[in-house]
Amino acid sequence: MSEFAVVAREDFSDVTFLLEVRHPQMARAARPGQFVIVMLHPQGERIPLTIADYDRGRGTITLVIQAVGKTTRQMQQECRVGSALFALVGPMGMPSTIGSARKVLCVGGGLGVAPVFPQARAFKEAGAQVTAVLGFRTRELVFWEDKFRRACDDLILCTNDGSAGIRGLITDGVALALKREPHIEEVIAIGPPVMMKAVAEATRPHGIRTMVSVNPIMVDGTGMCGGCRVKVGGEVRFGCVDGPDFDGHLVDFDDLMARLHRFDTQERTAQSRWSESCRMPEPAQEPAPPQSRAAAPDAYELPDPAEEVFGG
Ligand code: FAD
Ligand code: FES
Ligand code: MG
Repeated sequence: MSEFAVVAREDFSDVTFLLEVRHPQMARAARPGQFVIVMLHPQGERIPLTIADYDRGRGTITLVIQAVGKTTRQMQQECRVGSALFALVGPMGMPSTIGSARKVLCVGGGLGVAPVFPQARAFKEAGAQVTAVLGFRTRELVFWEDKFRRACDDLILCTNDGSAGIRGLITDGVALALKREPHIEEVIAIGPPVMMKAVAEATRPHGIRTMVSVNPIMVDGTGMCGGCRVKVGGEVRFGCVDGPDFDGHLVDFDDLMARLHRFDTQERTAQSRWSESCRMPEPAQEPAPPQSRAAAPDAYELPDPAEEVFGG
């Protein structure tokens, strides 16, 4: 079997899909919170993707990917069982701290549901009581509900339109979880930056330690290019080597969101060149600028997956 072979694929929706990729060494080394850098082709760009699961027995890691632009759409089109990635490096980033908290809340919004899973499982294995709050826009986008039910003590599913679980924003799910279990000692929140910001603001008045996984633009992933700068507590940190997990009460989310749009023009050009070359339809609409949501965090809604910029 070729290196980095795709051994399983599952499509969760029109834009979200799972790849299980063979890499026995990576599966042995991976820890919750870490990510890989992937190249689809020798000429392709390097993109960071979180290790959403790993199976040491099968020698595989699992990636859950949202097709948002040129490279992820190309992966959606080309990565089938039997195909292989050109390059896969990692595990990268600092592993999440699975501390001694006895009651933990794991919050995943949209695609962020996948990367929060290894942390939920690790806290459970460390003996903590784990509640999960999973938020999606609508029922059709829900994935891994059963996997979380098996790994956690309690699960609150929320959808923006009420088609599955409770109707409401993810912060409504967090409020309900804190009401049901007032002694939560730690919250882990992963999703779009605007969602992580909203969750951090929801927990701030309670003084609950809240860790988030940031998603700045990364190039080398080794601390050398400086592309992944993030402001945390007034200091500049590098997402790739100091993170990606940081204290959500200290992260400057507005700066993070603004920096994510630095290369919009180039990304659009790459996307449209590639669409022309493979006759893929152009995305229906341009991504909405996140600042509008950031300006009104109380009105936060999970973005359409086709527009989502994922929180790593
Ligand atoms: P483009 O059109 O090139 O970009 C779309 C948007 O994605 C950009 O506006 C930008 O905000 C972001 N982006 C583009 N290039 C990069 C880059 N090199 N690094 C980071 N963000 C970029 N996505 C997933 O679907 N699943 C994951 O598990 C996942 N984990 C991540 C973990 C980390 C630590 C980070 C930093 C990002 C993660 N992402 C994940 C985001 C993913 O890397 C981007 O969605 C992807 O690079 C977009 O590439 P594209 O060419 O398809 O889209
Ligand atoms: Fe280059 Fe972090 S990606 S320093
Ligand atoms: Mg790209």
